[in-house]
Amino acid sequence: MKLKIACLPGDGIGPEIMSSAVQVLEQIAKSYQHDFTFSTNLFGGHAIDETGTSLPKETLDNCLNSDAVLLAAVGGPKWDQGVERPESGLLRLRKSLNLYANIRPVDVYDELVNHSPLKSEQVRNVSFVVVRELTGGIYFSEPRFHNENEATDTLSYTREEIERIVTYGFELAKTRKGKLTSVDKANVLESSKLWRKIVNELSSNYPEVEVEHILVDAAAMELIRNPRRFDVIVTENLFGDILSDEASMITGSLGMLPSASKSGKGPSLYEPIHGSAPDIAGQNKANPIAILRSVAMMLRDFNLVDEANSIENAIVNSINNGYLTGDLGGNSSTIEFTEQVVKELQFQTVGGTIR
Ligand code: NAD
Ligand code: IPM
Ligand code: MN
Repeated sequence: MKLKIACLPGDGIGPEIMSSAVQVLEQIAKSYQHDFTFSTNLFGGHAIDETGTSLPKETLDNCLNSDAVLLAAVGGPKWDQGVERPESGLLRLRKSLNLYANIRPVDVYDELVNHSPLKSEQVRNVSFVVVRELTGGIYFSEPRFHNENEATDTLSYTREEIERIVTYGFELAKTRKGKLTSVDKANVLESSKLWRKIVNELSSNYPEVEVEHILVDAAAMELIRNPRRFDVIVTENLFGDILSDEASMITGSLGMLPSASKSGKGPSLYEPIHGSAPDIAGQNKANPIAILRSVAMMLRDFNLVDEANSIENAIVNSINNGYLTGDLGGNSSTIEFTEQVVKELQFQTVGGTIR
């Protein structure tokens, strides 16, 4: 298959983990005889430094002309006080590509149950997906401003925005264990009241899906108390952002969780849920699993199922062979972990059986 992939390494650990992703994709292309082409564009803080804006037109145009966009991470203390923040480029990119559905799978690897800060019996076999609304809510609603004495953010949602993301959640639940948990704050927020009403309305189209509503504060608690109860969680933008970082720790590290952001038409964006990790940037310490699993999500979306599975298997085999980065208590570097994954991929296609 021919695929044109736009790579946005960004800031902090971004270039280090993007290098892992490209090496793994190159090995996949070789093993399965695909024609992947990579283009690299300025994005985030580095783009501000070089062009004055975090999302240069050339970058956006290239993303729009690609089959998929792979992003590592943006942001860092260097740009915290500037007129424009690197994060605003990410928000504009998501909005420009209309990526309203952000899919964040949370899967605990058997091999890592002892690496979670939660008890192993608590986290074994946890597998759920956070479906986060990504182009609306408090991140984008107007008015928003601040001055010396006052600041305003607005949280608004239209019926259409809620319907499309909730429908995504129902459709996904249908293909999984058939349970949809809608997370809101309907005891306080007007937007949540409409959200809950629409979930109830749509549920009549999905009799096979069990629906529950949980308030976001209770959901935060339930994620720790009994994460196995979840299958698909659907929620608004900010709640999804916060709950997914929390959920990552069930798996052992923020460096584990991938994501895919989709519009239904045009290129999707694949990125780890974590940020640019300025505290470990440039030290060859970053865990590349989140971006590698994002790559697997991308391949799966192009129906390259064996290829996606082989990446997942190579990650698990690397862990089984004792390769772990520091966030998971190991001492492998980003480069060592990546090299091991590439070796596992070579082994799988040189007649080795998948272990
Ligand atoms: P962060 O996710 O960058 O880091 C939080 C903690 O997790 C840090 O201790 C970091 O070292 C660790 N961590 C994160 N990813 C890791 C990985 N792959 N391997 C090992 N450890 C990892 O969050 P933060 O420190 O709050 O934010 C730093 C910057 O990143 C901010 O500018 C923020 O806006 C930005 N950010 C960007 C994205 C994105 O580009 N999608 C996402 C989140 C945060
Ligand atoms: C994420 C990040 C972004 C968000 C920031 C960097 C704008 O935290 O992708 O989870 O809040 O969506
Ligand atoms: Mn986040």
